[in-house]
Amino acid sequence: MDFAEILKKRRAVNYFDPNRDVDEAMLKKIIEQAGNAPSSYNLQPWKLKVVRDPARKQALRELAFNQPKVTEAPVIFIVLADRDGWKLENATAQNVFADFVKAGKMSEDQRDWFSGVTSGLYGRSPEASQAFANKNTGLFAMSLMYATTANGLESHPMDGFDHEGVRKEFNIPDNFWIPMLIAVGYLNPGTEVPPKAWRQSYEDIVID
Ligand SMILES: Cc1cc2nc3c(=O)[nH]c(=O)nc-3n(C[C@H](O)[C@H](O)[C@H](O)COP(=O)(O)O)c2cc1C
Repeated sequence: MDFAEILKKRRAVNYFDPNRDVDEAMLKKIIEQAGNAPSSYNLQPWKLKVVRDPARKQALRELAFNQPKVTEAPVIFIVLADRDGWKLENATAQNVFADFVKAGKMSEDQRDWFSGVTSGLYGRSPEASQAFANKNTGLFAMSLMYATTANGLESHPMDGFDHEGVRKEFNIPDNFWIPMLIAVGYLNPGTEVPPKAWRQSYEDIVID
């Protein structure tokens, strides 16, 4: 499938085959492909909780306005955006900095300078940290959905859920915002996906 086809084919699908699982190897492939997403300073402030257990999906469904796809899809990703992902003591950020040093892009003694740069940009206010986490994790989430389509599966992003309820139920630490849930699975056989809804044209999108 070429990328133009993936762009057209990806849909927020409502009807998943409840009898067809997504195996671990496929899930790993999709997640690692999506990991190629860009991020500010390559800081990758995203994590996922993968929910497969039927009882856990039922609990999640009740917190997601009872949307049936939450239990019908074999897998739900709880997408997590790390508002602290710019802090150099963060484990992922440490790996990123170590990689910069290894690649010769920065030297070890630039750690404090780099820490000052990221905290100046993303730690200057709660809004800046929130924006940092959400914009980068949104790109990762989009990549997850395209990777899903590219591998012959379907997805559905959802922000219709009780954020604090999900945080509590799934023990999600305070540094994470939850931009969305993504249902992943195969299309229920015999289900027709409705035509794509109206999209803005070039003229609509580009403004003076
Ligand atoms: C961040 C986000 C949150 C969404 N939340 C929900 C949701 O909670 N429930 C739902 O049925 N659809 C949800 N949608 C799906 C949109 O309605 C859908 O993407 C849009 O209508 C365009 O349709 P398409 O994705 O099939 O092209 C969400 C989409 C996004 C990107």
